[in-house]
Amino acid sequence: MFKVPPVSARRLQELLRAMPKAELHIHIEGSLEPELIVALAQRNDLPLPYASVESLRQAYAFTNLQSFLDIYYAGASVLLHEQDFYDMARAYLARAAMDNVAHAEIFFDPQTHTARGVAIETVISGLHRACEDARSELGISSTLILCFLRHLSEASAFETLEQAQPLLGKIVGVGLDSSELGHPPEKFARVFARCRELGLHLVAHAGEEGPPAYIWSALDVLKVERIDHGVQAVHDAALMQRLAQDRIPLTVCPLSNQKLCVFPDLKNHNLRQLLDAGLCATVNSDDPAYFGGYINENFTQVFAATNMTARHAYQLAFNSFEASFASNADKRVWEHRLKETFERFVEHD
Ligand code: ADE
Ligand code: ZN
Repeated sequence: MFKVPPVSARRLQELLRAMPKAELHIHIEGSLEPELIVALAQRNDLPLPYASVESLRQAYAFTNLQSFLDIYYAGASVLLHEQDFYDMARAYLARAAMDNVAHAEIFFDPQTHTARGVAIETVISGLHRACEDARSELGISSTLILCFLRHLSEASAFETLEQAQPLLGKIVGVGLDSSELGHPPEKFARVFARCRELGLHLVAHAGEEGPPAYIWSALDVLKVERIDHGVQAVHDAALMQRLAQDRIPLTVCPLSNQKLCVFPDLKNHNLRQLLDAGLCATVNSDDPAYFGGYINENFTQVFAATNMTARHAYQLAFNSFEASFASNADKRVWEHRLKETFERFVEHD
């Protein structure tokens, strides 16, 4: 690993913004800004229970995951046509490129849309076209991860997988999201086993609000390659050891954890503890339109609150490439660019 010299606090904030990084935990429906929700509602002639962009933004005060999900699913209901999905993903990718995201692995929730009569092909085609255009026009690489909603049944997840079957060439893997408590990973053991047979990569939200036991079963029953969130792992020493030993990546989302009251304050966030224990933690935005910031804002705010160093910054960016499902050749290119960025900053400090 590259030996990272110390840099001043001011330069560190600049470095966090400038360094190339991968974003591995972004729900595309959570990137829908209030302005775009209102514009799409008007374009699709749909009523909205909020009079203005401002009143919509004011509703974004959450006490836990469920209080957020209720508003998030309502926001996603303005998406009807392929162009709507395209516009949403294109806006996110343009914003991510500004934050020096070299590669994004984007979650989407098809059941939220198919339940309203939108065909899964409409969803995936719009998102995939945005990814392709962003690669050629913005130079950002991106792939799609289909998430099953864990508050719905196993049968509904199987039905969704069936609908997605002809489109599997356009996605890189599957995930598990939505209300965690009361919906343990085991509920989806057979669906994930089938996805594994199909050669898809596997990830799951676990240990966001739920107990360490959910992280164990995501690993051992679902056989996932990454854990989304996973911050509750610190309450189980044996689990911490397992995660460190197997280099299981955690896609951590600091501002999300703060806004959903997982931690009382950002200064109590355990990201530094996870990194210092040797875990492959990464920083991500989760639902940036709802939680007050895109990926760079997550980096700069959590670093300012917890006094992390340039060494932590390098490790987090390096981890994000290591943890991605990109090719080894792409990973080497991004890691080289990361090292160059750090060398440039240290020289001029
Ligand atoms: N869907 C969108 N954001 C989520 C989160 N933070 N946890 C679970 N499901 C989600
Ligand atoms: Zn999430």
